[in-house]
Order: sequence, then structure tokens, then C-alpha cells
Amino acid sequence: MSASLDQKPFEITITRPDDWHVHLRDGEALERVVAHTAFQFGRAVVMPNLKPPVTTTEQALAYKGRILSALAASNHPDQNKVSSFEPLMTLYLTDTTAPQELERAHAAGVVAVKLYPFGATTNSDSGVTDIRKTYPALEALQRLGMPLLIHAEVTDPSVDLFDREAVFIDKHLVAIRKDFPELKIVIEHITTLEAAQYVQDGDSHLAATITAHHLLYNRNAIFTGGIRPHYYCLPVLKRETHRLALVKAATSGSSKFFLGTDSAPHAAHLKEHASGCAGCYTAFSAMELYAEAFDAVGAMDKLEAFASFNGADFYGLPRNVGKITLRRESCQMPESLAFGNAKLIPLRAGESLQWRFVV
Ligand code: NCD
Ligand code: ZN
Repeated sequence: MSASLDQKPFEITITRPDDWHVHLRDGEALERVVAHTAFQFGRAVVMPNLKPPVTTTEQALAYKGRILSALAASNHPDQNKVSSFEPLMTLYLTDTTAPQELERAHAAGVVAVKLYPFGATTNSDSGVTDIRKTYPALEALQRLGMPLLIHAEVTDPSVDLFDREAVFIDKHLVAIRKDFPELKIVIEHITTLEAAQYVQDGDSHLAATITAHHLLYNRNAIFTGGIRPHYYCLPVLKRETHRLALVKAATSGSSKFFLGTDSAPHAAHLKEHASGCAGCYTAFSAMELYAEAFDAVGAMDKLEAFASFNGADFYGLPRNVGKITLRRESCQMPESLAFGNAKLIPLRAGESLQWRFVV
């Protein structure tokens, strides 16, 4: 990708964006990361894969309270802005999630439910073992008009890691959509040409989020000059043809694709490990990274709909009213961020960004 540094300074002001997929964690980790997301985004869909997972309305509301308290205590230089952030809560779907629980959640303002296949990713031990077991819950979601968010990867060890998303679509998603044609579904963090095409060809009940890292990097990043754990996430980065398909989808102007960072903080020592955790931390510079990906293909005019309109429209929520400004200007990323007694290594640590988040 060619840098744009030889061009004139350029600023773009867009409606305040939302992040439709983020991991804010809990406790001290939450306190360290929450303001990064709240500074850039008006709202974020907060993933429920805590330990233990957020499976009830009561837990979701308690978690929301902890997020808001952490924000209030964050001492961010722009406290007004971060205090206006709204966390959108989700429930973690299990084999036994009751329709009544989903009714309660819906009434309490929980916006969506997340399906993790058992064993697919970080904290998925309570995930779904057989999608058929969740059919009463899916029926309730369809009736309530509440989106089902899917980590769309099979976990069958005989399926190659790089094929797990495409196989999930063929093996499970086609059947779910046939059995629940009115169910709103978001395929989270799509990584393949197959997924992008499947979403593009689907009806208005189907959409997808796309991360900044899957728009900017292919799987070579994980192996360049040695193994690079900070580029390891799930679903894993794919080959260049897939990255190009994702860029095309995100910048196509289609309302079916929207921003979801999947920013997933892990302490550096747990990623730089013999069995390192999956997850890239992008919340600190999320909009700068998306701007770079859109700018690289001359599609800055498509960024606002992707980042600020399409997700809200799909969820049936109002669009944000505030604005943000990004400037094409090189700036340096820190080597690491504070993370309690540990360190957090953000994507691009110690390297430069091509865009700056101005305000
Ligand atoms: C996420 C996490 O760490 O919670 N990790 C990741 O690689 N994306 C879980 C997830 O979204 O799969
Ligand atoms: Zn995630």
C-alpha cells in the first residue's frame, strides 16, 4: 500500500463513529482500555466473553454499570467526550439460553446476543456445542428483532485453520438462515472472500463487521522475520486475495458492511508466550487505522457510512450527532500502553500511523 505522505495535508470530518464489536474486559483491564474506545466512538457493542461469561440480563446490566464507573474514573483529558460514550450490551449464547431470558434482556436494552462455537476463541468454553440446541433462543431473537452476532468458525480439528470461516458458512449459516429467514444476523469480523460474497449476496437481514487489522494486513504479517504474536487474532489473518476482498467490501458503499474493531486486549506476556492468546489491540488508534485502509484505495468518501451509519441503521438505532476530525499526518505510536502490572502492545506499536485523530 502506498503511503499518502507526499500529498497535501488533508482533513476529513465525519459523524462520530461507533464500534460494533469490541472487548472491554473487566476489572483493572477495563479501567485501562475503556477510555480509548470511548474517546473515538459514540457507542460500542461490548462482547460478553468475560470469565464467567455474561449470560443473563442481570450480569449484562451490572457489567454496563462497571463500564460506566470505569469511564467516570478514567481521568481522560477529554472527560466530557468519554463520558458521553454509550456501551451497548450483549448476552453470551449458550446451549441452554432460555427465550424468557432474551425477552428480559431485550426489555432491558441489551442490543444483541453473541454466538461463540464451543472452543472457537478466547473464553469460549461456555460456547454452543450444537446450534440445534439454541433453536428456541434463535426463534425468540427472530421474534424480538434482536440481532444474532456470530463468531463464524467451525472448531473441527480436521478443518484447516484458514478454512474455518468458509466451512462455517456452508455447514451452519446457510441452515440457520433457511430456518430463521427473518433473524437479523451479523457475521462478526469477516476475514475471507467467501464471507464477503455471502454477505453481499444475502438479503437485508444479513450484515458483517470488518476489523481494521484484516483490512491492513495479510497472514504474512504473523511470520515476517520471525513469529509475531501481536498479529495473531481469531479468525486469523488470511492471504492477500482475502484482504483485497475485504477492502473491496468495506469501501464498496454497501450498507451491509460496518466497522467492528474486535479490539481484544491481552497482557503482552500472555501473547509473547509458547501458547499465545489471540487478539489484536486496536482501540487506541482505531479510526487512524481504518482511515489508512480506506485512503490506500482512494475511498475516504466511503468511510463515514462504514464507520458511522451502516451499523446504526442495521441495529435500528439512531445515528450519532457529534463529529470527529481525522488528518492525514504521520504520527508515532507508543511502544506499549499501561495495563496494570503488565504491558499492552497495541497494533503498530513503535511504528508510525499515517492519520491522526484530531478531535
Ligand atoms: C477475542 C478475545 O480475545 O476476546 N480474540 C480475538 O482474537 N479476536 C475473541 C474473539 O473475538 O474471537
Ligand atoms: Zn471479538
